[in-house]
Formats: sequence, structure tokens, C-alpha cells
Amino acid sequence: MSLPHQLTRIQGLLRQIVLSAGERLRRGLGKTHHIRFKSEVDLVTEMDHAVEALFVQALRRHFPGHELVSEELVEASGRGFPSSPAPRGRVRWIVDPLDGTTNYAHGFPHFAVSAGVEWDGRVRLGAVYNPMLDELFIGRLGQGAWRNGRRLKVSRTATLRHALLATGFPYDLRISTRNNFVEFQYLSQHCQAVRRAGSASLDLCDVAAGRFDGFWEYKLKPWDVAAASVMIAEAGGRLTDLAGKPHNLYGGTFLASNGRLHASLIKTLRDALAPRRGHKEA
Ligand code: IPD
Ligand code: CA
Ligand code: CA
Repeated sequence: MSLPHQLTRIQGLLRQIVLSAGERLRRGLGKTHHIRFKSEVDLVTEMDHAVEALFVQALRRHFPGHELVSEELVEASGRGFPSSPAPRGRVRWIVDPLDGTTNYAHGFPHFAVSAGVEWDGRVRLGAVYNPMLDELFIGRLGQGAWRNGRRLKVSRTATLRHALLATGFPYDLRISTRNNFVEFQYLSQHCQAVRRAGSASLDLCDVAAGRFDGFWEYKLKPWDVAAASVMIAEAGGRLTDLAGKPHNLYGGTFLASNGRLHASLIKTLRDALAPRRGHKEA
């Protein structure tokens, strides 16, 4: 079967799973959840596992040869996530069953199911579903990206002081100096506003949709970014590391923008840290 044909089949299943997973999460919001702390601030609920199980079952049934890199499975394995793309010819699903777990556990209605499909070293398909707004972001490399059927397009904002940005903070913020606080403060003083909504995949999709003009974050995992990376690319945006180098899905640090703002975001983030240069970062 040809690659486009295979991708179409995968896309159908991807869409089906994220929609039913999202619906399940939506119905469970506000109920009492079983919460387990992975670290002092990083938690997981039984719903993360339940949604993950939907992916496991679907892949076992329809694509048993595909690899699944999914947050809770990886963390339970204790082996960490892979450090590079899957070898040529292999298909890897990269899944965050519930992106915005802290929001979810508190009944705050902002979270998503996020799944990207990597093939021959590139994420070629992505789906991010926000069940509370019933918004399905879906993208296919080289073909486009859509929100509920409407083509995604990044914003045209050209100056940082008019930009609405998004960011997030790493779970080790209490013990690491690389916690994004200095950058958050500095950028807040140089743009219109910075939001911290608690779901990186939605932040990135909102850059692709032109709602946010830019986004940056440290220490993200491949499952936070894989699916939405397709939306950014297909909506005409840019996704790099903080220095502007091509992004590495397994590299942790990401800067996304509408393209026009990329250079000034890189510079402003660099300026934010300038007084601290020479200090050893944890
Ligand atoms: C988290 C969210 C949050 C981001 C964290 C992520 P989770 O994912 O995307 O916005 O700031 O870095 O880990 O734990 O809710 O899947
Ligand atoms: Ca996540
Ligand atoms: Ca998660």
C-alpha cells in the first residue's frame, strides 16, 4: 500500500480515537478522580490511563506493527522516551492522552488529547482535540491543517508589543533555576500579554490558529509537541529551538511563532537572560 493511502487510513483512525477519547474526558470532568503524584507537582489521574488504553487497543487491532510512544506508558517503563526519530520505514505514534492533567484534576476545562504520527523521521499527521470547545485540530504534512474543517492560518502580528504569547513552566520549577520565571517576566514587559493556560498542545494549536502570536517553553516532551508541530508547519508558522535552530522533537525546548515575530522573540528571550549569563544553570 502506498504511503499516501496508508496515511489516509491512519488519519481516519487517529481522528476516531481522539474524538472518542476527548468525549470520555469531557464526561469525566468535575468527577472525583484518582490522583497519583509522579513528582511533587506532576500528577496523573486514572483518566490519563483510560485514554491511553484506547490508543493501545486501537493500535493492537488496526496497526499492530506501529510503535506507540505515549506519556504514561513511557513513564511507567522507567526507560524514558526515545532520543531520536524511529528508524526509516517504521511508524511511531506519539501520544499525550491528556495534555493539561493539572487543569483536568482541578475541574478547569482546558485540556486536550494529542496524537502525532511519525513516519520516516517526520511527524506527518497530527490531531489535537479540545473536547470542551469541541475543536478538532487536524493536520497532514504537505496538505494543510484545519480546525473543524477550517484552514488554519497564523496571525499577521508584526511587532512584539502587540503580540499575545503563551508559555508554560516545567514540573521541576521548584528545584531548577531553568524554570522560565525570568523569561516570563521579561517577555510580559515586552509584549501585550503572556498566558499560561496549562496545555502545551493547545497553546501550539492556538499559534497555528492565529489566536496566539508566539509560544515558548523548556523541557517539553515529544508528546506535548508532536501533533501540533504539523499544525504550525501547515499554518505558515515557525517552530524552532530557542536559538532559532530547526526544532528537534526530542530536544525539549521549543519556540513557535507566526514567523514574522520569530527573530524578535529569539532576541528578546536572549536579552531576558543576558544579566544571568555566566551563572550556572541547573
Ligand atoms: C503539561 C502541559 C503544560 C506544560 C507542561 C506539560 P501534562 O502536560 O502541557 O501546559 O506547561 O510542561 O508537561 O502533564 O498536562 O500532560
Ligand atoms: Ca503534556
Ligand atoms: Ca499528559
